Amino acid sequence: MRKLLIKGGQVVFADEVKAADILLENGKIAKIGKNLKADGAEVIDAAGLTVFPGLIDMHVHLREPGFEYKEDIASGSAAAVAGGFTQVCCMPNTDPVCDNAAVVGYIAARAKEVGLCKVHPIGAITRGEKGETLSEMGKMKDAGAVAVSDDGKPVANARMMRLAMEYASDFGLICLSHCEDKDLVDGGVVNEGYNSTLAGLKGIPRAAEEIMLAREIILAETLHKRAHICHVSTKGGVQLLREAKARGVQVTAETCPHYFTLTDDVVTSFDANTKVNPPIREAEDVAAIKEGLRDGTLDCIVTDHAPHHVDEKNVEYNLAAFGISGIETSFSLSYTYLVKGGVLSLSELADRMSAAPARILHLEGGKIAEGEVADLMLADLNAEYVIDSKKFVSKGKNTPFGGMKVSGKVLCTIVDGDVKYRA
Ligand code: DOR
Ligand code: ZN
Ligand code: ZN
Repeated sequence: MRKLLIKGGQVVFADEVKAADILLENGKIAKIGKNLKADGAEVIDAAGLTVFPGLIDMHVHLREPGFEYKEDIASGSAAAVAGGFTQVCCMPNTDPVCDNAAVVGYIAARAKEVGLCKVHPIGAITRGEKGETLSEMGKMKDAGAVAVSDDGKPVANARMMRLAMEYASDFGLICLSHCEDKDLVDGGVVNEGYNSTLAGLKGIPRAAEEIMLAREIILAETLHKRAHICHVSTKGGVQLLREAKARGVQVTAETCPHYFTLTDDVVTSFDANTKVNPPIREAEDVAAIKEGLRDGTLDCIVTDHAPHHVDEKNVEYNLAAFGISGIETSFSLSYTYLVKGGVLSLSELADRMSAAPARILHLEGGKIAEGEVADLMLADLNAEYVIDSKKFVSKGKNTPFGGMKVSGKVLCTIVDGDVKYRA
């Protein structure tokens, strides 16, 4: 029997935080209580530490197959466990696109071989993410896909999205929508507003995101299907979602740390590490995103971990790739800005970063209770450190957070009862 005893930590349960020991046996949480003893168990001293359910990131880019120079399943998995994540779901904008059972099966098999975190592939909605014909969703589901998305690109044609929502639901899959009206984006690279004018960079209006977000809400509502909105960045998007949820529309949504920590003031630095799609918005958007996370309008926090090679960022702003390497900074940024910032409790943070994505995608995990899977993360909430991309495990060093002082350090990540990361 594999046994691990986590002693003396503060444990984040769904509705309270309290001191408890946790005994893990054969990949499950066997017992939770005071002064637990277990013969032959390896003991982890968690005194002064906080024990969270293993974090789950339902939106990452692992880049394999095809773009292994940016990231691969091994480096991405290692970065994930260093960030406190026990499960990640990877987007299909690879080369070849993950639009068939063979690629889904390859990713799942390679991730098992790597054996760090659990990796759940997301299949493409349309073949080649071209928006023309639906992919074989049933076969991808059988091979291990947990959702479908054309992320990186919108599904431009509303009829195609309608068909996708209907078809996906036949297989118990949900469409994750990258909301972007490309005609309105029209080559923009940053948020459209004062700072885009100041910097002389072409702006992306909020409407480019909100029009498609509204479309997805209307489709989900009229079809009585589920839909999930990727990386919400605007105040108007949060309002649309709040109203839709109040009407009972089956819509869920995610946001990312860069949308509740930064404003587009950062683009006047011309640092291409601030270039991300959708773009970093303004103060009133940041406030609305925080309020959306607080009241549950935004269900979960994802990273949209988008590693790129330095040569794809170290170019002029207009030419740089969109994306932030975010999986190793998500917990610290979320803890610092949301918990220390008075927006969420620790239990609510665990919900947004673990339980909620598990609910949306019907994954195991997300809570600390006897009988649950032994996926856990230990953090020192009092530890402060300065973010340094040179220390990233990910191949992608592209972060706008370098030099920022944050609190809350991931020290240990446990997957299926085995320690997969120790700082
Ligand atoms: O910034 C982004 N990067 N947004 C996306 O939608 C795609 C992603 C990527 O794949 O690099
Ligand atoms: Zn996207
Ligand atoms: Zn993405």
